[in-house]
Amino acid sequence: MRRVSIGLLGLGQIGSEVYRVISRKRSLFQKRYDVRFDITKILVKNTKKKRFKSLDSKLLTSKPSDVLKDPSIDLVIELVGGVALAKKFVLEAFRNGKDVVTANKALLAEEGESIYKEAKKLGRQIFFEASVGGGIPVIKSLREGLAANHIHSILGIINGTSNYILTQMSQHGVDFDVALQEAQAKGYAELDPTFDIEGVDAAHKIAILARYSFEQKIPFKSVDCEGIKHISQHDIDFAKRFGYSIKLLAIAKKQKDGIEARVQPTLLPNNHILAKVDGSFNAILFEGDEVGEVLLYGKGAGPEPTASAVLSDVIDWAKGIRSNLPRTSKSQVKVKSISSILSRYYLRFSVIDKPGTLSYISGILGKHNVSISNVIQTEKKSGTTVPLILLTYKGHEADIRTAVKKIDSNRSVIREKTRVIRIES
Ligand code: HSE
Repeated sequence: MRRVSIGLLGLGQIGSEVYRVISRKRSLFQKRYDVRFDITKILVKNTKKKRFKSLDSKLLTSKPSDVLKDPSIDLVIELVGGVALAKKFVLEAFRNGKDVVTANKALLAEEGESIYKEAKKLGRQIFFEASVGGGIPVIKSLREGLAANHIHSILGIINGTSNYILTQMSQHGVDFDVALQEAQAKGYAELDPTFDIEGVDAAHKIAILARYSFEQKIPFKSVDCEGIKHISQHDIDFAKRFGYSIKLLAIAKKQKDGIEARVQPTLLPNNHILAKVDGSFNAILFEGDEVGEVLLYGKGAGPEPTASAVLSDVIDWAKGIRSNLPRTSKSQVKVKSISSILSRYYLRFSVIDKPGTLSYISGILGKHNVSISNVIQTEKKSGTTVPLILLTYKGHEADIRTAVKKIDSNRSVIREKTRVIRIES
């Protein structure tokens, strides 16, 4: 039987779970795959910190070289997170002849090109299933099951924390902050939860998916990123009245004139397959030229699903499966600027309820080629303003933004910044 000696970098929630699963399932893996997996060194910041009971504390070290330079270690699992230090460790592992499994989406989205280049140069492998979609086998599906396709569209709910918060707000009227605290307590959120609620985590993941699927370099800064922190209970309730759910969607489309890549809160019609993806669940809808639509669905956050993905990579590596670094096609197209996209829009104005308001707003929208498809205005109950909600037909982002800016500048009609949310159908 083969023995695989693993060096673990980082022992946070995911690292601890990887350790526990390997200990618990060692004999199962031996029977199934004829391989014995042993974690033989673990890099931590503080070797004295009290951790879980089953941990063999003799394995802990605070010296990176104890893992990266140990010739008896066959495979390195990088779970330290962050970018700069993780990059240093991964490159050092490669240079010491070790392949790497990582869950680090920030690292691959922001520094992927230099990592793939170095891996290629040194003939090393990097596996990153756990970087996208928690326990869902997304990268494996692209690498294997969808290998015969050109993928031209990806729509994903790929941040479990945001999806959990929006679901709690929508189904139970829970406050944003309370729902966020719950998501943190359940281990869904990043160490810095602003990455979740500002859409950065989902942007990292869609950059990785678009890079892999479209065989195009995706500079991370070209991914337009808007999170859910401005979504209010009002928006969720009005969306419902029109027959929509609000979801944080990651979108990547490959078109002849460029690539669209963005993360945005989105109104999805209730009969859209992604509108039914609730809680911390993730789902990714791919469209390939041969297969058509494929939906992958499962738990997108939390230590157990993420450890499941990490271990699937470890097992694949032990079986001799190659990670297949993202290819780079000869014809590279640019990521389009957000102002050039076409979309439908939900606009929530806070208006002063007086004669002429509606015609003023619709007049400016009309002048900018924006056509209205649906309207709701509630009656005044208290205060001076009322919400006026318009849905539009498809228009250019640049036209919508110019029109809304103009409308918002008229303080005798509008009192608060207008909320603009894109609609996907
Ligand atoms: N914070 C991430 C999420 C964890 O909420 O989806 C998985 O990457």
